[in-house]
Amino acid sequence: MTDLYAVIGNPIAQSKSPLLHTAFARQLGHDLRYEAILAEPDTFRETVLAFAAAGGRGMNVTAPFKLMAAELADTLTERARAAGAVNTLKFGPEGILGDNTDGVGLVGDIQDRLGVSLAGRRVLVIGAGGAARGILLPLLRAQPADVLVVNRTAARAQALADAMAALGRIQGGPLNAARGREYDVVIHATSAGLNAGEAPAVDYRVADDGLAYDLAYGGDTPFMRQARDRGAARAVDGLGMLVGQAAESYRVWRGVLPDVRPVLEQLALA
Ligand code: ATR
Repeated sequence: MTDLYAVIGNPIAQSKSPLLHTAFARQLGHDLRYEAILAEPDTFRETVLAFAAAGGRGMNVTAPFKLMAAELADTLTERARAAGAVNTLKFGPEGILGDNTDGVGLVGDIQDRLGVSLAGRRVLVIGAGGAARGILLPLLRAQPADVLVVNRTAARAQALADAMAALGRIQGGPLNAARGREYDVVIHATSAGLNAGEAPAVDYRVADDGLAYDLAYGGDTPFMRQARDRGAARAVDGLGMLVGQAAESYRVWRGVLPDVRPVLEQLALA
């Protein structure tokens, strides 16, 4: 029987999830169908429950519903709890499981595909909103030397760092707290590129062999250009994370991790 999955969000037409999961299924010889579902805040819950009742096995959840999905789930994984958000729902006899695969997608892309080990490295995270929160648990689990979170609203960065303090060495501060230090890995997690069309004015340096990583994707982003000006030999967008989080969702649902490389190559050419 064909297994049924979907991504739910608003807007949803731009989502690459149907393409990614269909490619994974083809790669693994699985029989599944994957739809894109548009919902409104006041129809989100009933739409998810109706999809599960109709035999749906799992869903990806994207903006603006990741927090509502966390509330709807019966059980949350540790990483979904730490993220405070859910991007993956799994429907089973034991109820609705809420998970978050964003951080694992990022860390896997940095370490496995790009070959940059995070252990012992100095990491700067720019931004303290939902996207930043979503990646911090897996990031800290990779045991960097320390993580500095900087944000336009400093109190938000401070609160995030405090909430994660038990997991590793992490501090929060205003954007200018990054000044005068060199980082091995700089991660851009604000929505400034989308809203203002440019990266926040942060004064950091990237180490010679360092990596700058934009969670947003779409070619050469404003942050990637900024990071190269600040010494980054390598600056990448978040396409690898996008494919990585999808692959990890697929594993949560079906117990097997697809190979991200051929799918990423296909996307990069598209
Ligand atoms: P997301 O889920 O995309 O992280 P969010 O939770 O609204 O969305 O967080 C947006 C992040 O981008 C925040 O860190 C925000 O900074 P504030 O906490 O100070 O609002 C940051 N951000 C958005 N626009 C920005 C801009 N023009 N300059 C600097 N930071 C910006």
